[in-house]
Amino acid sequence: MSVPKKIVVTGHLGFIASAFCNNFNDRYQITGIDFGGWGALVRNLHPSTNDVRADISDGPRIAAVLDECEPDAIINFAAESHVDRSIDDDLSFWQSNVLGARVLALEAHKRGIRMVHVSTDEVFGDALEENEPWTESSPIVPRNPYSVTKAAAELMLSSYHGTMGLDVVVTRGANTIGPRQFPEKAVPKAVTCFLEGRPFPLFKTPAQRMWMHVNDHVSGIEAALRKGISGEAYNIAPSEASEAYTHDVIERVQAIVGKGTVEPVEDRKAYDLRYWMEAKKAERDLDWTPAYDLEATLADTVGWYLDNTDWLQEANAVLAATV
Ligand SMILES: NC(=O)c1ccc[n+]([C@@H]2O[C@H](COP(=O)([O-])OP(=O)(O)OC[C@H]3O[C@@H](n4cnc5c(N)ncnc54)[C@H](O)[C@@H]3O)[C@@H](O)[C@H]2O)c1
Repeated sequence: MSVPKKIVVTGHLGFIASAFCNNFNDRYQITGIDFGGWGALVRNLHPSTNDVRADISDGPRIAAVLDECEPDAIINFAAESHVDRSIDDDLSFWQSNVLGARVLALEAHKRGIRMVHVSTDEVFGDALEENEPWTESSPIVPRNPYSVTKAAAELMLSSYHGTMGLDVVVTRGANTIGPRQFPEKAVPKAVTCFLEGRPFPLFKTPAQRMWMHVNDHVSGIEAALRKGISGEAYNIAPSEASEAYTHDVIERVQAIVGKGTVEPVEDRKAYDLRYWMEAKKAERDLDWTPAYDLEATLADTVGWYLDNTDWLQEANAVLAATV
């Protein structure tokens, strides 16, 4: 495909898509579509992003936005993404993560443009009993309602590729941390607790995650946009050395903050104890490599929250007002 110039980025007021807009605003003319839901902060908006407030599951509205901005490609980041909330009630997860992806896919197909769909390693389930890291052809066995909706969207898009020839590329990112992550997620929540003198609630059972810097995640997605083969999925993951137990990472966050305590709490239901994935296909076919090791990822991430306590305060106020 020819290199896109004008793109639509959905979920641009959230964590990962805002990093994409920050890092690639000089390469693309970006229209962002976000409905200002969970995880969205207006202050995450990059000044050169054309800011549209719309729900991706609203077909007529999305068609009108696309008519106006005439993009060469769509990158779909928008999703409901918090596992605990999906366990409480998953209806909005089906609406945004599946029906929203469907609207974007049908519009992309109608216009003959590429859709990059941002998915997650969580579609593979739990790697605790695995002997090898997940590859792109590992079985899809999601175990919580959030990851089920992400897997459902992937299967739907794959069927659209096979039946109608939709130009779609799927990326499956590892557990991601970095600036502007909503403080319901572990690292910004830990920084908040440590700064405010409250114990961080840590699930009792040790769990392993690969900790990827958001800049590495979005550079992988951008490479997939330009070089991904239509119909293919690409794992985007840091090096094996970036795998660590959650409690070790929280201890390292505590050391960088310089204070804080941890309190063990009951695990969530169907708690996945290991996400373990390799990204050799992306490294080989997309010419992508992660730039951050675990130490640099943690130093940059925690350092950003300590330098931006006003952002953290605002995000925590929004969080408190919505729970
Ligand atoms: N955070 C991670 O560790 C991680 C890892 C792998 C993949 N992902 C995927 O990356 C994507 C972005 O995740 P994030 O962590 O940045 O989430 P986030 O919650 O910070 O941002 C999501 C954004 O999407 C918007 N949104 C949700 N539903 C919408 C709808 N129907 N219409 C318009 N906007 C809508 C929200 O308002 C929000 O701004 C998701 O698809 C997620 O599944 C996340």
